[in-house]
Amino acid sequence: MPAVLPGPELTIVVPTLNEEGNIEALVGKLQSVLHGINWEVIFVDDDSHDRTRPVTTRLARSDGRVRLLHRIGRRGLSSACVEGVQASTAPYVAVMDADLQHDEALLPQMLEVLRSNGADIVVGSRYVAGGDVEGWESRRARMSSFATRLGQTILRTHVADPMSGFFMLRRDAFDLTVRHLSAVGFKILMDILASAERPLRVQELPYHFRPRLAGESKLDAMVAWEYLILLADKTVGRFVPVRFVMFAMIGLLGLGVHLLVLRFALSALALQFAAAQATATGVAMIANFSLNNGLTYRDRRLRGWGFVRGLLSFALVCGIGAAANVSLASFLFGRQQSWWLAGIAGAAMSSVWNYAVSAVLTWKAR
Ligand code: GDD
Ligand code: MN
Repeated sequence: MPAVLPGPELTIVVPTLNEEGNIEALVGKLQSVLHGINWEVIFVDDDSHDRTRPVTTRLARSDGRVRLLHRIGRRGLSSACVEGVQASTAPYVAVMDADLQHDEALLPQMLEVLRSNGADIVVGSRYVAGGDVEGWESRRARMSSFATRLGQTILRTHVADPMSGFFMLRRDAFDLTVRHLSAVGFKILMDILASAERPLRVQELPYHFRPRLAGESKLDAMVAWEYLILLADKTVGRFVPVRFVMFAMIGLLGLGVHLLVLRFALSALALQFAAAQATATGVAMIANFSLNNGLTYRDRRLRGWGFVRGLLSFALVCGIGAAANVSLASFLFGRQQSWWLAGIAGAAMSSVWNYAVSAVLTWKAR
């Protein structure tokens, strides 16, 4: 055994979630394509329930360049990538998917661009001349192009494929952004580009986005939602934390529910104002709890008995908020204010209280 080996020049971070059928093929490809480069790969696995970790461990025991970071109780492609990069000390870091959709043959070329100081970050791009996507239905292609255009509006530099999950960057460029990252959802590149203290110098290299080798895509409705959260955080998030943005957005939706129910209770059910306002508050509270549990606190989602207990504690918190809400709204209504102004004033006051207290009582961090 040689006495001292220098650390790697390039770390490739690969987030994994149930990718047992792809790891071995990917490592094999890296081994052959990165010949002559001092590299390592870090798989960041979010507690997959298939054989991803045993397969990775077996490979790591025979090749010291293969590493594994096992996260428990946390989920998310972006945050996995961030932690993978932070576990590395290499001057250059790449991020790529495990499923072989990204072309590993591009890696040496990306490294060359960074070594020659041609850019801070090199992006494997589907949307520059020479790049393309294989086997997408037109719906997925339209979604991707819409999300791309939406994302481009918040970036300071033009990037044809800011949604790419395949890129390489200088470690010092990453350090310029890491404290400002939102790290929610799938779009880590967008996050990095939008969070840097100074605009990053970007170069795009075309590649052919291949079909997935094995397993299935994790892209679902939640990913689209998290993308909107990311965009919100990168714009208004400078002033308010992301969870509050979500809570407020759902609160706004709840306000819509509230006003509809209130109107219905007043006209169709002919309830007294206070009773109608209380009914509307109850319905909106249950809707808000379910939505916040699934969206705002999706990473701490309460299930089974936890869901029931959570609903009860949320009801307690909101009940106190609602008592104040109803009395304020009734007071205003009694003072000849319109029904909707009275309703909004009561709901707005209680929502601030609800957010602050439920964050501590209902969805406390584990
Ligand atoms: N650790 C971890 N945690 N890994 C995850 C998670 C998670 O919550 N969700 C997904 N992954 C891993 C997958 O195992 C895979 O290696 C990689 O992230 C990409 O997931 P896919 O489900 O294959 O995503 P996709 O193919 O639909 O989209 C990918 O390619 C697009 C084009 O480059 C993503 O990288 C997109 O961000 C990208 O736009
Ligand atoms: Mn994929």
